[in-house]
Amino acid sequence: MHSLEKLIESRQAQVGIVGLGYVGLPLAVEFAGAGLRVIGFDMQPAKVDSVNSGVSYIGDVPDERLVPLTKSGRLRATNNLSDLGQCDAICICVPTPLDKNKTPDISYVAGTADTIAQNLRDGQLIVLESTTYPGTTEEIILPRLTATGRTVGKDFYLAFSPERIDPGRKDFTTANTPKVVGGVTPQCTELAAALYSTFNPRVHRVSSPRVAEMEKLLENIFRLVNVSMINEMALLADRLGVDIWEVIEAASTKPYGFMPFYPGPGLGGHCIPIDPFYLSWKAKEVNFSPRFIELAGEINDMMPHYVTTKVIVALNRQKKCVNGSKILVLGVSYKKDVEDVREAPAVHIIKELWRKFALVTYCDPHVRSLSIGGRSVERVEFTDEALREADCVLILTDHTAFDFDRVAEKSRLIVDTRNAITRRDLSHVYHL
Ligand SMILES: NC(=O)c1ccc[n+]([C@@H]2O[C@H](COP(=O)([O-])OP(=O)(O)OC[C@H]3O[C@@H](n4cnc5c(N)ncnc54)[C@H](O)[C@@H]3O)[C@@H](O)[C@H]2O)c1
Repeated sequence: MHSLEKLIESRQAQVGIVGLGYVGLPLAVEFAGAGLRVIGFDMQPAKVDSVNSGVSYIGDVPDERLVPLTKSGRLRATNNLSDLGQCDAICICVPTPLDKNKTPDISYVAGTADTIAQNLRDGQLIVLESTTYPGTTEEIILPRLTATGRTVGKDFYLAFSPERIDPGRKDFTTANTPKVVGGVTPQCTELAAALYSTFNPRVHRVSSPRVAEMEKLLENIFRLVNVSMINEMALLADRLGVDIWEVIEAASTKPYGFMPFYPGPGLGGHCIPIDPFYLSWKAKEVNFSPRFIELAGEINDMMPHYVTTKVIVALNRQKKCVNGSKILVLGVSYKKDVEDVREAPAVHIIKELWRKFALVTYCDPHVRSLSIGGRSVERVEFTDEALREADCVLILTDHTAFDFDRVAEKSRLIVDTRNAITRRDLSHVYHL
């Protein structure tokens, strides 16, 4: 048995997690919970302090889970990247955003690879988890590590294993969603598989990092394309005077060959609106234009504008104009029951409403403050008074905490982008 495998199996291995965000912190907790010693690295001192004091800032990681791990010393956080040299295995969970021209910003991955290279020692396993285009592991990370004079598969090991976490989801988590692993060499794959097997019983091996990188993008593109398709259907159904929600409910009775996707105010979060463009960027290198991705992106980008128009039309029916109207936005995070507002459609919609001189407030039990372009949005509590005062209540996120019967009863006018209000006999409710 390989010496690293022995260390992993006997739980003597020390694992480093670079980037303690939505992906990195849950992963660190899983490894530590499985009995491994974990060092979490983050450049934000506030996150480091928070982890070390057993206070979680990620909804999926309750403090009760974190505290025993930090207290026992199984998990500690630091921003001192030279401690990377102490780790037997290192998982990279840093951001992979797009720049303003929708070009991949791979600088976090490259920067982390440079730091790992400076601290590299023989026998280490490096796994990239950040979502990225096929080729990143071998084109960005590998050359930086081999420049130290070491050979992959012999002196160090390198693999890609995508994180598939769906924040807020309870049934499938980091621990029980199968882990896909693709190493640069077969030994790299086996060591990465051994590492993840410490907490996840289902590891699926693929032949290369490229396959693992692309499968993650396929998952996200599948979702992007289908959500955008149903959004387009919603726009058409509206013009045809057909209730798209009823159409989807009926289609969903087919026991095979159909899978429901639901329209909404636009896609959000750090994955679906961003990751597919990593693939379309890479495709240009081989002179290929992936049209589904571009088209889906266009439709998705239209949705916030469509929702704003829907608010204007609804107000108009009540002989009101958007200028000076009080709009209460219910839910600003990009999806139900999470606190993440990255790329959230609410941000674009509120901006557009502001441009039309609406007076916008928001209510979201998960989002304590919201600032858009340096301007803060006034937060209100979920009260009858707040609902009654608004000229229009705009439902953007159907958080479980909202009582939608109460919303329907107390509000004067509602635009519901999530079918949160299922009744169809209310003339003051407009659905997407
Ligand atoms: N959020 C999700 O639902 C999700 C799901 C699957 C995959 N992913 C992918 O995982 C990756 C990370 O996403 P996330 O949502 O966890 O991001 P995040 O922004 O929540 O966390 C990233 C963390 O990395 C830290 N960081 C950045 N550069 C660093 C460096 N050089 N050294 C140490 N720390 C550094 C940041 O301070 C931040 O805390 C991305 O590629 C993303 O696409 C995210």
